[in-house]
Amino acid sequence: MDTPRHFLQLTDLSSDELRTLITRAHEIKDMQHRGEIYEPLRNRVLAMIFEKSSTRTRVSFETGMIQFGGQAIFLSPRDCQLGRGEAIEDTARVLSGMVDAVMMRTFHHEDQQRFAAAASIPVINGLSDLYHPCQLLADMQTYFSHRGDIRGQTVSWIGDGNNMCHSYINAAIQLDFHLRIACPKGYEPAPEIVHRAGSRVEISQDPCLAAEGAQLVVTDVWASMGQEEEARHREQAFADYQVNKAVMAAADKEALFMHCLPAHRNEEVSADVIDGPQSVVWEEAENRLHAQKALLEMLMTTG
Ligand code: CP
Ligand code: NVA
Repeated sequence: MDTPRHFLQLTDLSSDELRTLITRAHEIKDMQHRGEIYEPLRNRVLAMIFEKSSTRTRVSFETGMIQFGGQAIFLSPRDCQLGRGEAIEDTARVLSGMVDAVMMRTFHHEDQQRFAAAASIPVINGLSDLYHPCQLLADMQTYFSHRGDIRGQTVSWIGDGNNMCHSYINAAIQLDFHLRIACPKGYEPAPEIVHRAGSRVEISQDPCLAAEGAQLVVTDVWASMGQEEEARHREQAFADYQVNKAVMAAADKEALFMHCLPAHRNEEVSADVIDGPQSVVWEEAENRLHAQKALLEMLMTTG
């Protein structure tokens, strides 16, 4: 059995592969906007396992497969045997015999690692408790298209040290930029992930300090999916961590604002920032489609 190529975290692609993929995502976007038909995945099938809700991830993968001439199948644990206790490894072996790749959104990253270890087809992380690498492909495509290569620039992450924050740390490693994180005590990213980034990552409790001179300011919800019961408590802990005009004023005056969405206006970001001129969130969301098509092409058409 050939070992398939998986994409469970950003570091599964080398720096060169990541830059090539971003360039390819731009080309695929231009082709799509010109109305060119490009179907490299005719008759190929992607299975999508969603343990949690999704708008962007589901629609972008499904649309991408259809535009590429293939199909996507939506599976929720409620409707398949995974939800009734069938082993992850058994499911991986069975799906490997029927479909050409699997995208998974799970609560536990470890479940994706187990699935991937037993699968003979590529497995893509569509969000786990630890990472959201597909979102970073779109974010980096968006940054590159506005400002060119991000190497040597400063990115400011304001808020929870969560799955998105971890993926920004991986992006800082792979694409060689500085990442300043501002988060309340007790909500820092995982130390072992921070450690891998060395001096590229700095952590403080001061949003304006983290944003100072940054070319990109990013945030995410204060309570991620699965943390609904902590939402009240988190609102208090994160009250001083809103990305608002004061934070954006500390950043470079050309700074972009990004958010993976869904957003809560006037919680983690003020309405005047997310709906303001520095925000590129709608383009960032659209780029999920193009960046993931580049990923699918890379994983499913090469050996
Ligand atoms: N950003 C993101 O992954 O959105 P969904 O939860 O809607 O897929
Ligand atoms: N941190 C968020 C991202 C959603 C796309 C969550 O895990 O719910």
